[in-house]
Amino acid sequence: MKPQSSLKKIGVLTGGGDSSGINAVLHGICLEARQAEIEVIGFIDGWAGVLGKNYLPLSLEKTFSVVNNSGTILGTSRTNPYKQKGQVQVIAKNVKDLALDGLIAIGGNDTLTVASKIANDLELKVVGIPQTIDNDVPQTDYCVGFNTSIHNVVAAINNVRATCQSHKEDIVVEVMGRESGWIAAVAGLTASSEFILLPEMSFDVLNLVEKLKLRHEQNFNSNVIVVAEGVKGFDHHKIEAGTDAFGNVMLAGIGLSLRDYLQDKLQKKTRAIVLSYIQRGGVPTAYEVFMALSFGRKAIKLLQEGQNNLMVAYKDGCLKPVPLALACGTKGVSPEVIAMVREMTFL
Ligand code: F6P
Repeated sequence: MKPQSSLKKIGVLTGGGDSSGINAVLHGICLEARQAEIEVIGFIDGWAGVLGKNYLPLSLEKTFSVVNNSGTILGTSRTNPYKQKGQVQVIAKNVKDLALDGLIAIGGNDTLTVASKIANDLELKVVGIPQTIDNDVPQTDYCVGFNTSIHNVVAAINNVRATCQSHKEDIVVEVMGRESGWIAAVAGLTASSEFILLPEMSFDVLNLVEKLKLRHEQNFNSNVIVVAEGVKGFDHHKIEAGTDAFGNVMLAGIGLSLRDYLQDKLQKKTRAIVLSYIQRGGVPTAYEVFMALSFGRKAIKLLQEGQNNLMVAYKDGCLKPVPLALACGTKGVSPEVIAMVREMTFL
């Protein structure tokens, strides 16, 4: 027998930086929605789509063929409806006009913070799904997109390591991670990087120079130095200037500045790569797709139960609801993983 639900129609949006796995979340949502005969619409470009009543009907026919594609078929943006007066009222009107019973917001800190406020301010049931390669949403051990991104970063480090070994050169690998170093820590450790620099750890560049000198004296002439873009304590030239609608400063650039600094201090050729958007795209891993499908299905189930202002979290090996308000903010790398970085690298 089909589950009975008062839920007739819901909206879905994807906001903030994209990642691999979002389309699989959408597929999970559509799978579950079809079971319960719930109509799903997908807003185009995050909150911008809700503000502009710009959407497309979402169904299994649309999501089935893109489950293993990266990016988001809905498009995304960093639109912040709380930045300008009156926009929340526009959202309230549009949601009413469209006769929505619920909304699923898929994204990172900024998207989920807006989702939580909307849940408080509007007569609308809202459920969030954590999605960011940074893996830094509080209250969940996993965010959609993280697994594929570390898979990408490990593959990139393995690729460049061979070249650096052949040429006996060090290489700085810059990865994303604005306020938290999950990508740097997990991918760096997995790829056996010699040095890993995280925003969560204090960084003394002179100490790095000394440790590299020591490595060179011991004939270890090819070291991988993974640096998260958000590492503090070292002034660097930013590749792009500006801030987004949430006030996030563009950070990329530390890798190249660090390369120049090390080259100068060590008088030895040092290479650098900025992995940038390469780490955000690509075919999602099997684990990612499985997790994403599960997150999507769970969000529909919570809405069916009449729940509101919750996020689907992955904790202790299963998916469970947590208050969305608690998921706002940033979760740093865990003390256990930081200890691994300290113990398994040479700084
Ligand atoms: O939001 C996640 C993230 O991957 C951050 O680590 C990074 O600073 C940011 O996206 C950059 O994305 P964009 O250039 O799209 O703003």
